[in-house]
Amino acid sequence: MMQATLRNHPSDPKGELASRTLAMPADTNPLGDIFGGWIMSLMDSAGKMSATKQAGGRVVTAAVSNMAFLAPIKVGDTVCCYTEVTRIGRTSVTLAVEVWVLRQGQGERVKVSDAEFTFVAIDDDGRPRALAAESLPAVAPG
Ligand SMILES: CC(C)(COP(=O)(O)OP(=O)(O)OC[C@H]1O[C@@H](n2cnc3c(N)ncnc32)[C@H](O)[C@@H]1OP(=O)(O)O)[C@@H](O)C(=O)NCCC(=O)NCCS
Repeated sequence: MMQATLRNHPSDPKGELASRTLAMPADTNPLGDIFGGWIMSLMDSAGKMSATKQAGGRVVTAAVSNMAFLAPIKVGDTVCCYTEVTRIGRTSVTLAVEVWVLRQGQGERVKVSDAEFTFVAIDDDGRPRALAAESLPAVAPG
């Protein structure tokens, strides 16, 4: 609880806005709260779009870690996913994915979720594919 409170301090989202959607009644669980699996799916999709761009082609989700639900999402909230590349490997791209909402589409942004997603670039046979030079971080000339 303490950790969630500390992590949920008001600040700006990290990274680029990768997706925006409206929380609808169909996205709730039987108790009427927004279903955590729906939020994870939004984060996976947002991360995948950014990783695909970074990797210059098809990627698969390899791992999700440090998933946190910091505050509830309500029906009618605008749900925004932000992504920031934090690591580029030989075949993988790791991103921080944050979810922020505008309550009923208005007012201040509130951070509700974050996690780390690792995507692996794959070839047509589903095997890991080395990232092209233009996908790798720039290296200063020596
Ligand atoms: C992801 C997958 C392609 C990796 O294949 P693999 O043969 O195990 O790959 P390798 O061991 O050669 O590792 C390839 C890269 O994946 C990374 N990786 C693999 N498992 C990982 C994990 N659990 N966490 C983080 N990174 C991981 C490796 O670090 C490596 O990165 P690098 O090349 O940048 O150093 C394979 O496990 C797979 O197809 N998984 C199913 C994916 C899927 O169906 N996702 C859900 C739907 S999109």
